[in-house]
Amino acid sequence: MLNAYSPYSKFCVGAALRTLDGKIFTGANVENAAYGSTICAERMALGNANANGHRMFTMIAIIAKGENFDTTSITAPCGSCRQMLYEASQVSKRNLEIIMSTTKKDNIGISSIGELLPNAFGPDDLGIDVEKYRK
Ligand code: THU
Repeated sequence: MLNAYSPYSKFCVGAALRTLDGKIFTGANVENAAYGSTICAERMALGNANANGHRMFTMIAIIAKGENFDTTSITAPCGSCRQMLYEASQVSKRNLEIIMSTTKKDNIGISSIGELLPNAFGPDDLGIDVEKYRK
């Protein structure tokens, strides 16, 4: 969260993704003057883990703050991140746990990707077996 690059929204998000073998890969949102090119913290964490050779995860934690305010409700992943986390859950063979926090960690929500994105579209729908991509 403290490393977010968010000059436009001034909303700073951090994500920490835990691998099956206990490693943690972090991500922060990175915005762009072409707003649509912005990448969320959760997808950055997925990319960071992938670049380091990890595709199997157990959980992800998400926290955020405004430039001049602390959040009073938990920050949940956006729709695009839910879709990417669903793919990661298929590769991981697990219903990923999603931990969502307020800035001060005085309210924490725990859910799963299955709850946050029911009836998801995924590799199965395309007849794709992701087995050989597990690592
Ligand atoms: N953002 C995230 O990084 N993750 C979320 O779960 C919600 C939204 C970012 C995207 C953008 O940089 C800023 O927060 C405002 O939408």
